[in-house]
Amino acid sequence: MFACAGWKCAALLLSLSPNTVMSQVALLLCLIIGHFASATSALNLTQLTGGCKCKPKLEPVCVREGLYQYTYSNKCVYKCVQSRKDVALLYEGACCAAKHCGMFESPVCSESGQMFKSICDFEEVQCVEHRKFKKHLVMDTTHEKCSCILPCPQEWNPVCDSKGKTHANFCTFLNSKCYHKQQLNQSLEVDYSGTCCDDICSVGFSSLTVCDSDGNTHTDLCSFYVEQCRQKRRGSSKVLKIAGVGSCKPKHPLFRTFDYFVNRFPNYHSPIFFSDIN
Ligand SMILES: *[C@@H]1O[C@H](CO)[C@@H](O)[C@H](O)[C@H]1NC(C)=O
Ligand SMILES: *[C@@H]1O[C@H](CO)[C@@H](O)[C@H](O)[C@H]1NC(C)=O
Repeated sequence: MFACAGWKCAALLLSLSPNTVMSQVALLLCLIIGHFASATSALNLTQLTGGCKCKPKLEPVCVREGLYQYTYSNKCVYKCVQSRKDVALLYEGACCAAKHCGMFESPVCSESGQMFKSICDFEEVQCVEHRKFKKHLVMDTTHEKCSCILPCPQEWNPVCDSKGKTHANFCTFLNSKCYHKQQLNQSLEVDYSGTCCDDICSVGFSSLTVCDSDGNTHTDLCSFYVEQCRQKRRGSSKVLKIAGVGSCKPKHPLFRTFDYFVNRFPNYHSPIFFSDIN
């Protein structure tokens, strides 16, 4: 990126990078620098036009390639790439999705009562609406649908919600709850304090099958650790352990009857020899 020389760099980015924050920012910078510097820097048409027979003019279009969005330098490049790749023209102008938006810190509403997770999300949709329909989406933070939105402190005191998503603090959770109710008609509750145990699984885990001390089978260690973490954060006094490698053995009919009994009468106190398999 730092070796950028206007067109060269823009073209390189256009051909290489997915629609990430860095690449979008870098692309913009390059295009701006390029605008002023292109007269002096050597043009490499092959790079700029992705090997297509197109003029190196800057009339950007936003194109979807699989899961990503890319800004192409002009429609000619799009048409040319279309002949060899599955791409779709989204709209004219550079792609709007240029930022990573903070979630639920301060959701906002539009005039029509549509709620957005953040101002940044709103601006993205506003940009797309403008590019596509030349329509100006107006923000209305006082809209009644937004009345359950609170100004939140930027503090890290995480809670995990009933959908397994971590929120920076209880206040941003309440905003998310408001969003789920108003925008998605779904309920959202706090499951436990702390980050979500599901986050553990972002690291690679072996696919070893284990049986836990509650008699449940986990097909990988990750799901065991997630369950152990959940029980701990939900305030359980016992620690879930690995009882053995491999699937749990089918329970003895007596245990099954016992489980049935406990599920029907949850206040029943289990005799000690049943409750402690550790
Ligand atoms: C232009 O870029 C292409 C692809 O990166 C490269 O193969 C070619 O040598 C470059 N041409 C010039 C004149 O720098
Ligand atoms: C919201 O969800 C509830 C329960 O799922 C349903 O009864 C209700 O009709 C929904 N309301 C709207 C506006 O979709």
